[in-house]
Amino acid sequence: MPINRPRFVHGKILHNAGGGIFYRMEVALPDRIEFAPGQFAMVSGWPGNDPLLPRPLAIFRARGARGKGTVEFVYKVAGRGTALLSGLHEGDPIAATLPLGRGFEFGGEERTYWLLGGGVGFSTVFPAAVFLEQERSEFEMFLGARTRDQLPPRDWIPGGGLPGRVHPCTDDGTAGFFGTVTDAVRDRLDRLKTPERRRLMILACGPREMLRSVSSLALPLGIPVQASLENHMACGFGVCWGCVTEVREEGKTSYRRVCKEGPVFDAREVVW
Ligand SMILES: Cc1cc2nc3c(=O)[nH]c(=O)nc-3n(C[C@H](O)[C@H](O)[C@H](O)COP(=O)(O)OP(=O)(O)OC[C@H]3O[C@@H](n4cnc5c(N)ncnc54)[C@H](O)[C@@H]3O)c2cc1C
Ligand code: FES
Repeated sequence: MPINRPRFVHGKILHNAGGGIFYRMEVALPDRIEFAPGQFAMVSGWPGNDPLLPRPLAIFRARGARGKGTVEFVYKVAGRGTALLSGLHEGDPIAATLPLGRGFEFGGEERTYWLLGGGVGFSTVFPAAVFLEQERSEFEMFLGARTRDQLPPRDWIPGGGLPGRVHPCTDDGTAGFFGTVTDAVRDRLDRLKTPERRRLMILACGPREMLRSVSSLALPLGIPVQASLENHMACGFGVCWGCVTEVREEGKTSYRRVCKEGPVFDAREVVW
């Protein structure tokens, strides 16, 4: 689902509030934007030019009509840029270039999708859940956190009402599955019959270690994995080569730009 006409836009914050350790920011834009699940924006809004560079955030939701739109981002404070974003209020200006990168691809044939979000990685896979629900495709979600307070708020989870659809996983066992997302996926796979496994496609975003371990579990079983990488970025649109990841191509290795050829990659290509 490539949507590749990025625009630089100025918007105004409608709200920017915390839900647990995460913030959710909605921004009014001059126009509606279209995006594919997994695409992102380069966002800035803090006064002055320190830090100089905007920060990449997944596009969480976009709504509106011609001539009036909104976009939402969900973020966790990681350092200076996101801390400054968290201090902004209703009416403050935001600048963003969006939509950027290549999002997830959805196969035409009957698939069951497993959406994996580690930490704030849920912000990248929830838009895929919204899309799959609209398409009436089957999906389940595995959401990983260190502890229960670090899981996304329940009312942010799209389609979360269906029993058995959402599998929270915590490292300390305080909610849901006791263990990592990869452990939960292994456990669930063990209980599937071969024809059910054959229909699976995994879409994942989270820490690199989670993406690596899920890939090394699923790929040998013939289950395709699309992994959304969260490398550091400078420009966000393919010019600086500051975001590259190593890939395997026709027996050789080379480099691809996460902001341009990604952030979503076929996990078979990535040199983990
Ligand atoms: C395509 C894409 C989509 C993303 N979507 C989201 C999102 O929806 N929500 C969200 O909260 N975050 C998201 N991120 C990560 C987010 O961009 C970073 O957390 C943010 O840039 C950090 O900026 P900062 O100024 O707050 O922290 P910095 O001051 O830049 O960094 C603070 C600390 O975090 C480390 N760090 C910063 N960025 C990364 C990274 N990408 N990977 C590992 N360590 C890092 C730094 O080394 C440093 O130790 C996304 C990243 C990418 C590439
Ligand atoms: S961030 Fe500049 S090329 Fe990717």
